[in-house]
Amino acid sequence: MVETSGIAVDAYACEARQEINAALLRWTEFDDDCPPKLRDAIRHSLMAPGKRLRPLLVLMAAEACGTDRGRAMPAACAVEMVHTYSLIHDDLPAMDDDDLRRGQPTCHRQFDEATAILAGDALLTRAFEITSTEITPSAVATRCCAELARAAGASGMVAGQVDDLAAETGNGGLTELEAIHRRKTGAMFRVSLRLGAIVAEAANGPLQHLDAYGQKMGLAFQIIDDLLDVRGSEAAMGKRTGKDSGRGKLTFPRLLGLEASQTRARQLIDDACFELREFGPRALPLEALARYVLERNH
Ligand code: IPE
Ligand code: IPE
Ligand code: MG
Ligand code: MG
Ligand code: MG
Repeated sequence: MVETSGIAVDAYACEARQEINAALLRWTEFDDDCPPKLRDAIRHSLMAPGKRLRPLLVLMAAEACGTDRGRAMPAACAVEMVHTYSLIHDDLPAMDDDDLRRGQPTCHRQFDEATAILAGDALLTRAFEITSTEITPSAVATRCCAELARAAGASGMVAGQVDDLAAETGNGGLTELEAIHRRKTGAMFRVSLRLGAIVAEAANGPLQHLDAYGQKMGLAFQIIDDLLDVRGSEAAMGKRTGKDSGRGKLTFPRLLGLEASQTRARQLIDDACFELREFGPRALPLEALARYVLERNH
C-alpha cells in the first residue's frame, strides 16, 4: 500500500514538475524591451534543475483542498520565481559567495554581478505581475499578493537572510537559530501551502492545518539542508558543500550535532504529517513529499 502510493506520488510529482517547468518557461517569455542577456540570466537560474518543492507544495495544497491544480499554477510559479531570486542573491559575493547552484555556475559567475542582481529583481517583480494578473477572482489575487509579499519581505525571508549573515560573526543559540530558519526558509514553505489553500478558497480550518504543516516541514527542510552541507555530496547537491562551517554559520549540526539534528528533523516531519490527518487520501502527496524531505540527498 505504502509502496503503491509511493509510486503514484512519484508519478504525480514528475508530471506536476513538467507542468511547472512548462509554465515557468511560458511566463518568462518577455517582450522585445527585455534585453536578451537579462532573459538568458533569468532562465539560466530559473530553468536549471531545481527540485521545485515550493511550487509542488502550492499545487498539492490546492488539490488537498479539492481544487484542480491548474488553478494554482500561477501562484506555484510565482513562489518558484521568488525562491529563485532569493537563491541568485544568496549566492552573491556579498552574501554566501557561492559559484555552483543547481549543478551549474551561479548566475553572477555565468554572467556578472550586476546582471545577477538585476535578474533577481526581475524575477521578484515578475512573480507579483503573474500573481496579480493570472489568479482569479481578483480578491483572491490580491490576498495572494499580500501573503507572498509578507512571507518574502522584511519580516520574512529577507529578515531571515539578514540575521543569517549577522549570525556568522556572533554566537547565537537555538532560539536565535530557529528564528532565522523560521523566516529565511520556513516563511516561503508556509506561504506555499497557504497560497494553495487560498486559491482553492478553502475554509479557515484546513488552511490552518496546512499552514502548520508548512511551518514544521520548512524548519525540517532547513535542518536537513544544514546537515547536507556537512555530509552531502557536491555532485548530488549541485552546490558546494562544507561551506557553512567555513563561514561560521549558525546551523543545527553546529549546535546539536548530526544525530540530534536528524532526530529533530524526523520529529518535525512526523508532526507535519499529523496536521494532514483530516484531509484523507487527497493529502497523500503532501505526506510523501514530507517523507522525501527527510530522506533526500540533494
Ligand atoms: C535551497 O533550496 C535554499 C534553501 C532554503 C536551503 P532548495 O534545496 O529547495 O533549492 P532548489 O530549488 O532545489 O535548487
Ligand atoms: C538560503 O539558505 C535561504 C534562501 C535563499 C532564502 P542557504 O544559504 O543555507 O541555502 P544554500 O545552502 O546556499 O542553498
Ligand atoms: Mg545563505
Ligand atoms: Mg547559501
Ligand atoms: Mg545551506
